[in-house]
Amino acid sequence: MAQITGPLSDDAKKVVGEALQGALVDLIDLSLVAKQAHWNVVGPHFRPLHLQLDELVDIAREHADTVAERAVALGVNPDGRAASVASASKLTQPDRAWIEDGKVVALFTDLLEGVIARMRERIAVTDEPDPVTQDLLIAVAQDVEKQHWMFQAQR
Ligand SMILES: [Fe+2]
Repeated sequence: MAQITGPLSDDAKKVVGEALQGALVDLIDLSLVAKQAHWNVVGPHFRPLHLQLDELVDIAREHADTVAERAVALGVNPDGRAASVASASKLTQPDRAWIEDGKVVALFTDLLEGVIARMRERIAVTDEPDPVTQDLLIAVAQDVEKQHWMFQAQR
């Protein structure tokens, strides 16, 4: 069987692997929750929010893949299984119901704030063990923070 070995020590690999797994869970669930809202949003601002949420889905999916593949490159198995994501996710889940446009804005402003805080913690802990992963997480945070701004601006 092929052996995937990255450049990191076991200790560094553990820290970095956990950071990447946490980021993966956040990003996968963010893509799912954003799709849920994309479908269920109602109100006068339906159209821009419907489109913006799909933009967020695309960003989250793209970064989820990059994060997972970084883990693989380091010899860590990413876990993007639905059950694993569901049990580990810290994202607030919307009800299965229509969501008023204003509530969508409030929900995503709060939800992205949490993702950003966790992403910044991961940026801090990967600084020493793996600046390459840190760089990747910084790029994720940059996009998530941009989305956070764009939801905040609609309040
Ligand atoms: Fe759609």
